[in-house]
Amino acid sequence: MEKRALRYEGKAKKVYETADPNLLVVEYKDDATAFNAQKRGTIAGKGAVNNAVTSRLYPLLAEQGVPNHFVRQLSEREQLVQAVNIVPLEVVVRNVAAGSFAKRLGIEEGQLLSRPITELYYKSDALGDPLVNADTALSLGWASEAEIAEILRLAQRVNQVLQAFFATRRVQLVDFKLEFGVNAREQLLLADEISPDTCRFWDMDSGERLDKDRFRRDLGQVEEAYQEMLQRVLS
Ligand SMILES: Nc1ncnc2c1ncn2[C@@H]1O[C@H](COP(=O)(O)OP(=O)(O)OP(=O)(O)O)[C@@H](O)[C@H]1O
Ligand SMILES: [Mg+2]
Repeated sequence: MEKRALRYEGKAKKVYETADPNLLVVEYKDDATAFNAQKRGTIAGKGAVNNAVTSRLYPLLAEQGVPNHFVRQLSEREQLVQAVNIVPLEVVVRNVAAGSFAKRLGIEEGQLLSRPITELYYKSDALGDPLVNADTALSLGWASEAEIAEILRLAQRVNQVLQAFFATRRVQLVDFKLEFGVNAREQLLLADEISPDTCRFWDMDSGERLDKDRFRRDLGQVEEAYQEMLQRVLS
């Protein structure tokens, strides 16, 4: 599938149109940002890792009842996806307190949550992706009641599938961010990526961080952590 016009360049990916209006090519970059793009850098090999990880997880999720935009991997950095209108929500699922959640509530990072927590954030770089709730999304017309219910149900399902997948690879799925969209046939689909950029992965034995926190927090061994996650995902 040939790339045509660049539709959008984000912080981590470029999105291209194709000859088919219902299909897009996503190209994964090595660029990395954190803290609403105040911190910038590159992580060598990240684009290839994130493409490979997403390309492994999405077919598994489809098999396990999570309809998604993924069509196929095209190359080391590219994948073909269904075009969707993205619901302007970042859907975060948490199993362990970490990051902004731990900070906001004064909880120590690493505390196991007694049940998974789903949070919604409004996708707006200008506003710094503020925390919102389902009522806000409904009232402001970002999604319908049925779509919100389905998003919350699918987020739980993704958590079940991925927790099991990563547990067999000795990786604790601490938290992750999802995006959803609606395709031309009005189907709600999981979209965007699932990768060490968008998840917290902790080694189950050592607690070592194997995700973008190594970049955010200047922990070193950033490239190595991405490669380690790729090996575990492909194992
Ligand atoms: N199937 C899809 N159809 C249309 N847009 C998509 C699809 N999957 C992902 N996207 C969008 O493509 C963009 C991917 O680029 P990237 O991840 O670099 O964005 P970003 O810098 O995180 O910015 P933002 O998500 O705030 O727009 C995102 O805006 C994402 O919502
Ligand atoms: Mg993104």
